[in-house]
Amino acid sequence: AKVHRHKFVLKDTPYTRLCSNKSILTVNGEFPGPTLHVRQGDTLIVDVINRATENVTIHWHGVKQPRYPWSDGPEYITQCPIRPGTRFSQKIVLSDEIGTLWWHAHSDWSRATVHGLLIVYPKEDDAYPFPTPAAEIPIILGEWWKSDIQAVMTEFMASGGEPNISDAFLINGQPGDRYPCSKPDTFKVKVDHGKTYLVRMINAVMNNIMFFKIANHNITVVGSDGSYRKPFATDYLAISPGQTIDFLLEANQNPSHYYMASRVHNVAGSSSQSTTTAVVDYTGNYPAPSSPLLPTLPLINDANASDSFTARLRSLGGKDHPIDVPQRVEKTFLFTLSINTFACPTCTGPVAGQRLKASINNITFVQPRIDILGAYYNRIRGVYGENFPRNPPFPFNYTAANISDHYRTPQNGTQVGVLEYNTTVEIVFQGTNLVNGIYHPMHLHGYSFYVVGMGTGNFDRKRDTLKYNLVDPPLRNTIAVPKNGWTAIRFKANNPGVWLMHCHLERHVSWGMEMAFIVKNGKTADAKMLPPPPDMPRC
Ligand code: C2O
Ligand code: CU
Repeated sequence: AKVHRHKFVLKDTPYTRLCSNKSILTVNGEFPGPTLHVRQGDTLIVDVINRATENVTIHWHGVKQPRYPWSDGPEYITQCPIRPGTRFSQKIVLSDEIGTLWWHAHSDWSRATVHGLLIVYPKEDDAYPFPTPAAEIPIILGEWWKSDIQAVMTEFMASGGEPNISDAFLINGQPGDRYPCSKPDTFKVKVDHGKTYLVRMINAVMNNIMFFKIANHNITVVGSDGSYRKPFATDYLAISPGQTIDFLLEANQNPSHYYMASRVHNVAGSSSQSTTTAVVDYTGNYPAPSSPLLPTLPLINDANASDSFTARLRSLGGKDHPIDVPQRVEKTFLFTLSINTFACPTCTGPVAGQRLKASINNITFVQPRIDILGAYYNRIRGVYGENFPRNPPFPFNYTAANISDHYRTPQNGTQVGVLEYNTTVEIVFQGTNLVNGIYHPMHLHGYSFYVVGMGTGNFDRKRDTLKYNLVDPPLRNTIAVPKNGWTAIRFKANNPGVWLMHCHLERHVSWGMEMAFIVKNGKTADAKMLPPPPDMPRC
């Protein structure tokens, strides 16, 4: 295994999109940020140097960081922010992750512009479990606001309502030629007829699950979230913020120009309906169409399209890719995911005198003043509590159409769940219809988990566990819990440290939909957390 060294310089950089200029926070002046290439089991050393004017941290989404939470990145969870004029050298140890992962800022809303691909190739002597592609195509779904992103955040937090919708969605940093001033820089990829390409896609959008489709072409999904999938063919995909999808694109249609397009999936239907595009251009001589062919995407509120896509993902299995899903679990959690309201005399919208909040088991997470990991390791008291509830405080009909106000007000808290080393864990995420029922893409740091079940309505342990897939469930790090439904995940708590779990919709994080687990050390030396590096940022 190799060690790769990179420098990430954070700085404010001028960019022009949609006919206007602004300064954005970038890594090395690039937007989207640099792509990193490693092989399975390699190590990255990234020197993060903050030459910008705001605090930043960098997270390696989907990298388990075995026994070394110090480089995981979430602000006030595993580290203090890297302040302007300071630096932090992060060591990222890859283990069994393979395929496409990504990195992004994990402080306030800075990940809007601070994100990039992390590509993990097979080890030197290993091959892909699919035919070797002719080339790779990166697809980074992102977003662009004409106003400053921190201002967008500050404004909606003050109003108490929903944030403004971005001015455009992006493919590889570009809105596409259907938007004003965007034609010359639209992302275009050249393909040769008869060849197969590996597309590495991440959803770096802040607040929306996205649909994606390429006109006239079927695609074959072969991976997601840093592990292989049983290949399956589809003509569209749904991807939530945080997730990655690897798929094969066979250039087998009449040589021409075809749009690939992306649009929001939102069950409430209340979002931008506009379509962001990039272009697949076949090489060779043929009469070029006046405009590329546009695919027909699923409708914005097509929950069935997104659920049925998610349900098709399965672990690959076979002797080279064993599936180790826990057949029995020692500890079960039922976590309700809710959007709530708090009284707020100064708030103006959408409901005067109320502010939107979010909670897990009725607890709205409050960021501590120093990081939980440092407090845990150094035994500093009074930073967090260890009483995160295993179940909702009181059961109710979570998915009923009208839920009484009585259930709406959560409690503020900085609570963690504590797990003994090697405990087998099941978490059932229960969507609720409080205020606005919506999908929640739940992400766990430090682990991949098996998604063993998913269903509609209220979870019923007796009935629903019988339908679990304990044979080839997909191994993931982010899973979209359906509106009016539930999702069950399993994992073995074999990575000691402090690990954040949160919804990957940024506004829900701002409203408090997060919690953390402390996984205790095991008895043997190789089951204990490693010590912190000397240059950990200070609060
Ligand atoms: Cu992709 Cu906690 O993040
Ligand atoms: Cu959410």
